[in-house]
Amino acid sequence: MLDLLDIPTPWGSPFIGLGHLLQMALHVSNGHEQFLKWHEVYGPIVRLRLLYRDVVIVADPQVASELLGKGPNECPRRTPEYTLFNAAHGMPGYGAILTEQDEERWKAIRRAIAPAFTLSAVRDLFPTIVTCYSEVCKRISSGEAVQYSKPRSSSSSSSSEPEVLIDEEIFAATLRVLSDGFLRMPQQGVFDAHKTAADASSLIAITNTFVTQPWKRWLYLGMPWLCKESRTFHAQRRHMMSVTHQIAQHIESLRPTASAADFSLGASLSRLREPSSGQLFSTQALQAEVFLEIVGQESVPWTVAWTLYLLTQHPEAEQAVLQELVAAGLPCNGDLAAVTAALSMDSLRQLPFLTAVLHEAMRLFPAGVAATPRMCEKVTKVGPYQVPAGVIVFPCLYSILNYSANWDSPQQFKPERWQDPSAATDPRTGSPRFVPFGIGPKACVAQQLAMVQCKVLLVLLLSCFSWRLAPRMGGPQGVLSQTVAALELRVAQGMWLTPTPRSAAAQ
Ligand code: HEM
Repeated sequence: MLDLLDIPTPWGSPFIGLGHLLQMALHVSNGHEQFLKWHEVYGPIVRLRLLYRDVVIVADPQVASELLGKGPNECPRRTPEYTLFNAAHGMPGYGAILTEQDEERWKAIRRAIAPAFTLSAVRDLFPTIVTCYSEVCKRISSGEAVQYSKPRSSSSSSSSEPEVLIDEEIFAATLRVLSDGFLRMPQQGVFDAHKTAADASSLIAITNTFVTQPWKRWLYLGMPWLCKESRTFHAQRRHMMSVTHQIAQHIESLRPTASAADFSLGASLSRLREPSSGQLFSTQALQAEVFLEIVGQESVPWTVAWTLYLLTQHPEAEQAVLQELVAAGLPCNGDLAAVTAALSMDSLRQLPFLTAVLHEAMRLFPAGVAATPRMCEKVTKVGPYQVPAGVIVFPCLYSILNYSANWDSPQQFKPERWQDPSAATDPRTGSPRFVPFGIGPKACVAQQLAMVQCKVLLVLLLSCFSWRLAPRMGGPQGVLSQTVAALELRVAQGMWLTPTPRSAAAQ
């Protein structure tokens, strides 16, 4: 069998000992694109050296399934990078489901919360989901969510454009689904969903720089007054700690009354016990968990933002989506009350083209791009190679979803590829190649919920408005040049879109 040093590797730095650190430093924000370029040149398994550490990046669906799925090659999440995200919640020493290093504790949390995300739980919450997301349309229609761009110059005759920061609007509404629905804790007056969404998003973006630029971590955490960004980080963290504290107290208040048959998220979290001591989770442990639940949801806004962005670039696909909505009894004439009345879990199943567009957006711009590095804790088979313990393996979801050996014309937006019912699997091996939610036991616990949330949002937003890329984005080039792989794949300044209300006449 071949070993680690047989794995193809790009040219490293001319400075001995740095390995590929300089190349990665040059691609701090868009490492996912650099990984894909390396795969295109060196193949589906590539070795990188970052100072003293070996990292093996993987774009092969079958090898990725072996590393992430159950079996002899499964690797745990125990890479130090995950724990850096714990700096964002401010509960020293506490991991949460996504960052947990202790497998027994991860299992306990996963087992406890999984029933809250089953399809029947999502069905029960459907009315809350529709109500919370209708608010986004209402806020846009009333102008509350709209800003106006400045005309390019005072002499310019063009009037200013209405612009909506769509990812943040959706994130705030998604937090309402979490509080009003999953936690049964109406957030009205308890916390400001918009401020919480903005702060959570910024905290994660800053913490992500601790992974790619480790020196920032020491500077920001050790010298909070150092610079404006550091002071902002600490102020946002204080705000988030007060929000998570209120939510944790609400969860604790459910303990005396929550029945064992209540599998809502709040009740499930209230029953959680530390596997090592059997003690109920402390307030701080719950705060850490709640924080991760909050930031884990940012993938929904980004998935929808990327889908709308793609539709702004492909008007023929937008027209096809509208025709499908109307044929399914979902009016696209700006009448929010009519579309919400017609919307149901069943009507969502009658939308194969909308689903294909969503899948294509999740393939081209997978929101959970950075979630899957793992640690080899024993000698591990990575395809034809034997890799020693201590090596980090990274089945990169972005590469798997965009590598030319896995897909025909992967860089093209082709919703029609999803007409093939087997499109989600690799024809050579039968392994999953459509993997935006990850693979195996640690894959996204809320994927059914997430798909329903994305579809409801798209139906409401597309039936009420037509969308264009806001002028401040600088066209598609501007969007792509500002794409950042933080915990989510996002645009650095957010996704600003210009809505135009639909009218009955236009239908
Ligand atoms: C389109 C939206 C979403 C995408 C693309 C997405 C993607 C992912 C990915 C790639 C992972 C990591 C898998 C791994 O490490 O192998 C993950 C984990 C997770 N996601 Fe999502 N996610 C989405 C929405 C959500 C929502 C709405 C929630 C909560 C309400 C959520 C909660 C979680 C949790 C708790 C985990 C950790 C699971 C575990 O460690 O067992 N996600 N997600």
